[in-house]
Amino acid sequence: MLDFISNEKRTHYAGNLQKTNVGETVTVMGWVHRRRDLGGLIFIDLREVSGTVQIVFNPENEEVHAKAGKLRNEYVIAVTGKILAREGGNINRNMTTGEIEIEAKSLLLLNKSEPLPVQINENVLADENLRLKYRYLDLRREKLKNILLLRHEIVFAIREFLTAERFFEIETPVLMKSTPEGARDYLVPSRVHNGKFFALPQSPQIYKQLLMIGGFDRYFQIARCFRDEDLRADRQPEFTQLDMEMSFVTQAEIFDIMERLFKFIFKKTINVDLQIPFPQLPYKESMRRFGCDKPDCRFGMELIDLSEIVANSEFKVFSGALQNAGSVRCVVAKDCATYSRKQIDGLTDIAKHLGGKGLAFVKYQEGDLQAGISKFLSDEEKKNIIKKSGAENGDLILFAADSNKIVFKVLAEIRNHFGRELKLYNPKEYNIVWITDFPLFEYNDDANRWETAHHMFTLPKKEHLKYFDNEADYAKIEGQLYDMVCNGMELSSGSIRCHNIDIQRKIFDVLGFAEEELNDKFGFFLNALKYGTPPHGGIAPGIDRMIMIMTGAESIRDVIAFPKTLQAADLMSESPAEVSQKQLDELGIALTTKPEKQNLPQSHKNAKKRVDSVQ
Ligand code: AMO
Ligand code: AMP
Repeated sequence: MLDFISNEKRTHYAGNLQKTNVGETVTVMGWVHRRRDLGGLIFIDLREVSGTVQIVFNPENEEVHAKAGKLRNEYVIAVTGKILAREGGNINRNMTTGEIEIEAKSLLLLNKSEPLPVQINENVLADENLRLKYRYLDLRREKLKNILLLRHEIVFAIREFLTAERFFEIETPVLMKSTPEGARDYLVPSRVHNGKFFALPQSPQIYKQLLMIGGFDRYFQIARCFRDEDLRADRQPEFTQLDMEMSFVTQAEIFDIMERLFKFIFKKTINVDLQIPFPQLPYKESMRRFGCDKPDCRFGMELIDLSEIVANSEFKVFSGALQNAGSVRCVVAKDCATYSRKQIDGLTDIAKHLGGKGLAFVKYQEGDLQAGISKFLSDEEKKNIIKKSGAENGDLILFAADSNKIVFKVLAEIRNHFGRELKLYNPKEYNIVWITDFPLFEYNDDANRWETAHHMFTLPKKEHLKYFDNEADYAKIEGQLYDMVCNGMELSSGSIRCHNIDIQRKIFDVLGFAEEELNDKFGFFLNALKYGTPPHGGIAPGIDRMIMIMTGAESIRDVIAFPKTLQAADLMSESPAEVSQKQLDELGIALTTKPEKQNLPQSHKNAKKRVDSVQ
């Protein structure tokens, strides 16, 4: 019998009950997590957000006992009973409430549940697509629940810290004009202005700068951002930034605030003591030592430049790369001289996948460089390679020879591969570094034009302003740009902005904007810059990535309540979805392509069948 319309009041959260409550009569409410019938006694683990508590149903209380016998997993119940102490072997050290149990006096069945299409079992995870389809059930899992509760704590700590530092939380529009952050926009058609579109913010960048012009001094926002880009393990089409901006501020002050903010959050929410200040690594040095601008600095295995040593090599791969203004660099994999052909082929595949032509190697064995390309190396070259690389007997040396771009890309990935493979780091360590002094512009060979390397509203370094006079010098212009990187993942990005309209115009000139396009895209912003813009700068940590790192989650989907798949779809609500012809007509939109057929993953279809069959 269902007692779903009940005025029963919950007196306690189940997970908070302790030995000090022994003797009290309490009412708890939650889900049947597990039921065990042991002879006459029935045990139920009742689960809700605060945790789990054991309820015992005694056969002497006949009516209630009979009712308990009919309970199934995930039924929703209210139990009133007395707290008893558990003794000796009955104590469950794995449960926070393991020293007590509730002896049921009464039981209400608040709701039933059909058998679940996915089990709430940490150890046997169902296929991810199926879990995403039934996300609300997957969220009942302890691990996902704990991540989202920690996320709440972290956001609360952010608000607490920044409010004390005189930041104001201000909301910016979600329906707005497109801000260029490098990805594609999600567009929203306007019904009132047919043929015109809003864009969802890729970030609130322009608005936060306008807030500085508006005089707010220090702003932050827990801001939802939308980017239509290729997804990966650390990217979602819809994600959250802690967006911040400050007026009359230097880069050093921004670093100081961020370091104290991170220290505060880590201590308060996961009780980790971060060492501050974080080390700073200029971009060029990061590239030279690690081959990338997101180095995992928990381990060494740095890149070594051998270009000078092999400048006259008879190995054509080396000399060819050097003749084409490239370089020859290597990494040393400790104790990996025993690697098989197959393993080395696997590494070569990584290199080729990244655009490399191959991956040369030698093994340092019996006091000499052997195998691989050793036959092409002179004794002098071998001696110098050993010396410069610091390789030791038993090591494997891997070489990339190509343009710097490819060499860095390949060796950075090979280095990360070995970091994981050889467990070169402590997975519990949080290694945060600042990467600084990024170039402002990068030449795009394919498109034949200059592009911003990071951020087009960034103030160039004062001493680099002279390089604007000559295109040959554009690549030398560095901006006051910085990233915060943790364990090889870009956590935050920011810059000191260009508050001077003339310099901002120079930047747009380099990027090749025609006057009309400029006015169309940024007219309102350029106009605003004219009215007493204070010097300002800011930064935006990705909150989802912060939570990933702080919880050790492998996928960004595990830290978002209702995430999208790698195909940017929501399997639960089956969106994106078609809309009616009437809606399209109102928006003045005619489709040129037929909407694709809903292509549900196999597991998802099976799940539907399974649910149908129990109904
Ligand atoms: P940027 O584009 O580097 O900078 O983004 C800042 C941070 O946001 C996070 N992030 C993402 N997280 C999840 N999924 C994504 N698709 C995604 N894209 C970015 C990252 C990144 O470091 N307006 C500037 C910030 C500024 O200069 O103040 C900006 O958006 O953690
Ligand atoms: P090949 O001369 O093509 O037979 O290559 C000889 C070795 O050099 C193989 O181990 C290739 O994987 C490697 N190799 C080829 N091109 C490159 C390159 N650009 N950088 C590093 N190694 C390379």
